Amino acid sequence: MTKILQISDTHIVPEGELAYEKVDTAAALADTVATINRLLPQIGPVDLVIVTGDLTEHGTPEEYRHFQDIVSNLDVPCRAVPGNHDRREAMRESFSNANWMPATGPIGWIAEFADCITVGLDSLVEGKAHGALDGDTRHFLQNALARSGGKPVLIGLHHPPYAAGIAAMDAQNLIDPTPLLSAITDYPGEIRLVCGHLHRSITGIFGGRICQVCPGTSHAVTLDHRAAAENSLTMEPGGMLLHEIREGAFLTHWIPVGRFQGPYPFAGFEP
Ligand SMILES: [Fe+2]
Ligand SMILES: [Fe+2]
Repeated sequence: MTKILQISDTHIVPEGELAYEKVDTAAALADTVATINRLLPQIGPVDLVIVTGDLTEHGTPEEYRHFQDIVSNLDVPCRAVPGNHDRREAMRESFSNANWMPATGPIGWIAEFADCITVGLDSLVEGKAHGALDGDTRHFLQNALARSGGKPVLIGLHHPPYAAGIAAMDAQNLIDPTPLLSAITDYPGEIRLVCGHLHRSITGIFGGRICQVCPGTSHAVTLDHRAAAENSLTMEPGGMLLHEIREGAFLTHWIPVGRFQGPYPFAGFEP
């Protein structure tokens, strides 16, 4: 029963700095790592942690070193795809010891398990906020699905392919999602799309498949459905998603980052 933990949008800045002069993203990522390690006896074994983009704020080597310093404390293997705040070559260099990191081109990868496949897709358009899948990534996805044999497939990419009702963010989602749509349409098994970028837990449908957006680890994009709303952040609690194969299909748990009171036994309170 494969278990994949998804974290997203860690937005790491140089050590000692705050993102947007407000958010201690490094402390939040350290808290996330501690939360995962502490929960492992309850929820594990977890096969893989995936980071769905915006690992860093500016994509500099210094920020990736800071990211790796924190994530090196994780007791689970970790893979990542880039988001719009990342820079492909600096990210590649920071994962140069990882056997899943391609030497050139888009940062895509496949992780095969007995009961499912996980595919990471690179939707970064360098210097732009929106995302897109280039020709190489489209072929990569088509080939991955062709060899998946109908197993459930978890596809992780940064940019959501649908509008979520937050106007400033909807303008920078995955442009031209048609190739993604056509790639997944005829797949005979389950496909679960998992994204980041919106820093919120959002569940929608794309091409008849569930498409889940993961909350950020440190801060949320403000939920404001007014068309003229300013793009802004709100200090809502960080979170992550646990995607697990249960009875042959994906089931997803939202898990808040942090330590909370309990558990308290229900014993003695049941009717
Ligand atoms: Fe982000
Ligand atoms: Fe993003």
